[in-house]
Formats: sequence, C-alpha cells, structure tokens
Amino acid sequence: MRARDVDLSASVGQVELASLVLTASGTSGHDDELGAYGALDELGAVVVKSLAVMPWPGNPPLRVAPAGEGVLNAVGLQGPGVAAWRDDGLPRLLGHGATVVASIWGRTVEEFAAAAEALQGADVAAVEVNVSCPNLHDGAAMFAHSPSATAAAIEAAGRSGVPRWAKLSPTTDRLVDVARAAVDAGADALVLVNTLRGVVVDIERRASVLGSLTGGLSGPPLHPVALHCVIECRAALPDTPIIGVGGVRSEREVVGFVLAGADAVEVGTAALADPRAPWRILEATRRWCARHDVARLGILKGQLHA
Ligand SMILES: Cc1cc2nc3c(=O)[nH]c(=O)nc-3n(C[C@H](O)[C@H](O)[C@H](O)COP(=O)(O)O)c2cc1C
Repeated sequence: MRARDVDLSASVGQVELASLVLTASGTSGHDDELGAYGALDELGAVVVKSLAVMPWPGNPPLRVAPAGEGVLNAVGLQGPGVAAWRDDGLPRLLGHGATVVASIWGRTVEEFAAAAEALQGADVAAVEVNVSCPNLHDGAAMFAHSPSATAAAIEAAGRSGVPRWAKLSPTTDRLVDVARAAVDAGADALVLVNTLRGVVVDIERRASVLGSLTGGLSGPPLHPVALHCVIECRAALPDTPIIGVGGVRSEREVVGFVLAGADAVEVGTAALADPRAPWRILEATRRWCARHDVARLGILKGQLHA
C-alpha cells in the first residue's frame, strides 16, 4: 500500500478531524506560533493552552526543566483569559484553517462556567475541560480526583455550547469513577492524561530546580502510565471516544495508544524540543500503516492483548 492512500482522519464523537494527531494543551501556546513549522490544517486540532475566564500570570521562573527522559513544568496556567484570546489568538489560528480546541480551567465550578460562557459562539470544535487543577472549594484538592467535582466542572462547561472533552489526571486511584462521572455529566470524550506530579532537586542550592517546589512530569516516562489509563477507561466505557496523551514522540506511541483503545492522540513535550514533531509523527505513522497494509489506523483500535 502507498503511504498517500492511508487514511489518518479521525472522529471524536461528532467532531471530524483531518488527522488523529492533535497538539497537547500548553505546549504550543495560545496563538499560531506553531504555524511557522507546518500546515496547521493537517493536524487533527490545535488544542491551546488552558484559559481561565480572567487573565492569569502563572508561576515564577524557572517554569520548565529536564527531568531524566522527561520534562517537569510549573508554568501555572499563565494565559490572557478567554475574551482576550477570542480577539487575538483564535482569529490567527483560524486564519491558518486550523481546527481549534479551547482548553479551559477554573478554581471553582463558577469559574469553569464563566470560562465556558465566554466561549459561546466562538468558532471552536470543542472545549477541553482541564480538571487537573486545584478546586478552591475542596481544600485545593484537584477536581480530577473527585467524581462529583469533575462532574460539576463538566456540567458547567456545557455553557460553551460545543462538545466537551474531559482532560483527566493519572494521579488518582479513582480514574474510572471520575471518567464515568465526566461522561454522565455530558463529556463527549476523555483526554487521558495530564501530567504526573514530580520534583527535581538542585542539591547545591538545596532547592527545587523550578521556581515552584513541584511540577508536572511529562514526556516519555509518562507514556506507560497514560497507556494504562486508556486501557482502563476503554474497558469501562467502550463507546466513549478517548484521546491518548503522554510521551508521544514517534509512530510507536501513536499505534500503541490506538491498540490500547484511543481514537486520537495529542503531542506535547515532543513539540517543545522539535516544533515539527506533530507532522513528523503523523508522516511516520502514515508510513508504518503503509508498510503494514493498514488502510485506516482505526481498525486496530482496542486490539491490544497480553
Ligand atoms: C510546558 C507544559 C505546559 C502544559 N500546560 C498545560 C495546560 O495549560 N493545560 C493542560 O491541560 N495541560 C497542560 N500540559 C500537559 C500536556 O497537555 C500533556 O497532558 C502532558 O504534557 C503529557 O503529554 P506529553 O508527554 O506529550 O507532553 C502542559 C505540559 C507542558 C510540558
């Protein structure tokens, strides 16, 4: 089979995507910076960095540091707020023909509702609800650690009027309960997963290398964890679209996520080192499919066995 005959388009619920490779929130900004490296309309979607209803300054530097084979970040959700982004970043992305997914966050259910409401009428394909952030009404525990708090945030995000994707955290032993609560509250898809928590120590300064004590661990070390999360949720929710995120750096992780049950994948950390990574990975996946006579990667979905 010729590589150009391979169909890598994907659908996530009712959202049709040009390809199954999307960008991961937070790793290509809010704007069209990535457009300098490739055609944004060839990607499944550009998922922008999480936006709150208000502008948010984020954390002090240093915000990103190497952590073994991975990366530790404590960017702290810096962003211009939904309204400013609609005036500036969104039109620029749409100017490239990109399919845009807006990621939102909030410290309370009310803030999720306000961020979603501020998206009403915007030309976005979906809203990715980043519930992997602290809930001020619950002693600052993460929304994504609680089925009821996650459900409340997903329900609130319904004010956007577009499909809702629930971006969950791997740092809970209740992932399947949280996923089910998200779907029952109206989530059209699950995005699995956000980062693990971690620390890297600078022993000379006796301090964290980051400006914050802890950060989120991403990149290759996260991949096996993310695969496990996809497998668990696919078994529990066979009909729910799933997007796999964590450590995708080649066709191996794309095919692995699909075998585990994912419908699409997002590329994050790999694009920090090489902004062309999403396109490189897409082409490598196309060649792999051609070599293996796989006309559409989706036919391998959920085929993973022991
Ligand atoms: C620098 C950086 C910033 C991030 N910011 C966000 C964010 O704003 N919202 C979010 O949902 N995830 C954020 N993430 C998490 C990624 O979207 C992704 O879930 C995670 O990094 C795992 O994928 P990867 O290994 O391909 O990077 C961020 C990750 C990094 C490395």
